[in-house]
Amino acid sequence: MYSRREFFKAGAAGIAGMALAGQALYGKSVAGANDKITLALIGCGGRGLGCIINCCKTNENVVIKTVCDVNRTKLAKAREQVEKTFGYRPGTTEDMRSIFDDKDVDAVWIATPEHWHMPAAIHACRAGKDVYVEKNLSVNIFESRMLVETAAKYNRIVQAGLQNRSASQGFSAREYIKSGKLGKIVTVKTYFMLGGGRFTEAPEAPVPSWLDWDKWLGPAPYRPFSPSIVSEHGRGGWQSYWAYSGGLLDDEASHTLDFTRMVLGDPPHPKSVYSWGGNHVFGGTGETPEFQSVVYEFDDYLITADGGGSFKYMQKAPGDIRNDAARFPNWRNYSARVEIYGTEGLMYLGRHGGGWQVIGMDDKIVAEDGAVFPDNAHQKNFIDCLRSRKKPNGDIEECHRSATLVNMGNIALRVGNKHLLFDGKTEKFSGNKQANELAQGTYRKGYEL
Ligand SMILES: NC(=O)c1ccc[n+]([C@@H]2O[C@H](COP(=O)([O-])OP(=O)(O)OC[C@H]3O[C@@H](n4cnc5c(N)ncnc54)[C@H](O)[C@@H]3O)[C@@H](O)[C@H]2O)c1
Repeated sequence: MYSRREFFKAGAAGIAGMALAGQALYGKSVAGANDKITLALIGCGGRGLGCIINCCKTNENVVIKTVCDVNRTKLAKAREQVEKTFGYRPGTTEDMRSIFDDKDVDAVWIATPEHWHMPAAIHACRAGKDVYVEKNLSVNIFESRMLVETAAKYNRIVQAGLQNRSASQGFSAREYIKSGKLGKIVTVKTYFMLGGGRFTEAPEAPVPSWLDWDKWLGPAPYRPFSPSIVSEHGRGGWQSYWAYSGGLLDDEASHTLDFTRMVLGDPPHPKSVYSWGGNHVFGGTGETPEFQSVVYEFDDYLITADGGGSFKYMQKAPGDIRNDAARFPNWRNYSARVEIYGTEGLMYLGRHGGGWQVIGMDDKIVAEDGAVFPDNAHQKNFIDCLRSRKKPNGDIEECHRSATLVNMGNIALRVGNKHLLFDGKTEKFSGNKQANELAQGTYRKGYEL
């Protein structure tokens, strides 16, 4: 077995060799329209397991060879659930490197907490695997840029888990805006007004027998275990820590900001960012804020993102609306809405099957398009692209720019609620060393990229 100290070093020699093999094979391994696709799952929480099972149910000839988790309870449950659903028993591993070593695996599905997304995805690409990787892609700007370059170098298909990129209402909203019917875009407001409460870290405790804590931490700095961070069965509180996540801006605004960029025609990076926020609502001890406001300055308009976990009366699209393209949410209490103000109308845009509606003079709805929740479409697009070798809808280059909005917003907050100028070409901040250090990130010894 590999030791932690050589996590990516030992991997590096082996993986570099495999990478070349993967690259050479790439031309030959292009799958035909119905060829079998073999997947492996890294991170067997609710999201990863739910998505990969759904993907194999709704797409033909796609199988799960291996499931990987450092939480042994979830790993066993994942194996059971795959067996119960499909009648075959996948292999299990607590070490993702054995998946990278496995020549049978075509693509990996990465649904770990965020601090593992990019290290896992980059090493998967180097090993010749295609990748589906959950949002928010990265915990700093450097690492998702590195994935863009690695995916290009090794000719890998990488689909970001930003499923709104495959939402039918995203394509129609983009066409509507492009046609000029909304007029000139003046300003854009996005929201992530979620429910929540006070987070308080529990005292450190011995590492439970169901967890490999050292591997869970992986590239993040070592710290003692606390039951507040990881839970045996559920998600736990890792989203309250900068080392593993970008908080609720990462959890929810990653989607709304990405969707907004998509319908606006994917503008380049903003020129500046300002953010304010903190734990002034409940006074919790979480590092990531209970409320946050961010302002992004683009060439011709501002995009704002406002939200946090302080709004129990707001809601995402309920199930009956998510699955019914003929119905629209009540925009007033829709927690994940986007408002695009043009000179000719206001477009309300919703994810989770929210669709869009344009309000013109006298509060009249002048155009609309309904939609359903886009997970199936996004998963199908990934599988289709594995076979066709075409660029997926959630292509990594644009999704890296969207992830950068999340990282920029959090960096502006973390350096002390600052207004920061950003150079989109170098992806660096002007005149703020601390901001650039956060944009670069740090990696525990043995896990350097
Ligand atoms: N696209 C969406 O709409 C959407 C929805 C929910 C969650 N997500 C994202 O999906 C990811 C997973 O979310 P979740 O709710 O399932 O979280 P979770 O914490 O329940 O699951 C993550 C799993 O990864 C495992 N893990 C940690 N380190 C690992 C390692 N080194 N190797 C293998 N496994 C490891 C954990 O033990 C855990 O079981 C997150 O990034 C989250 O933001 C996306």
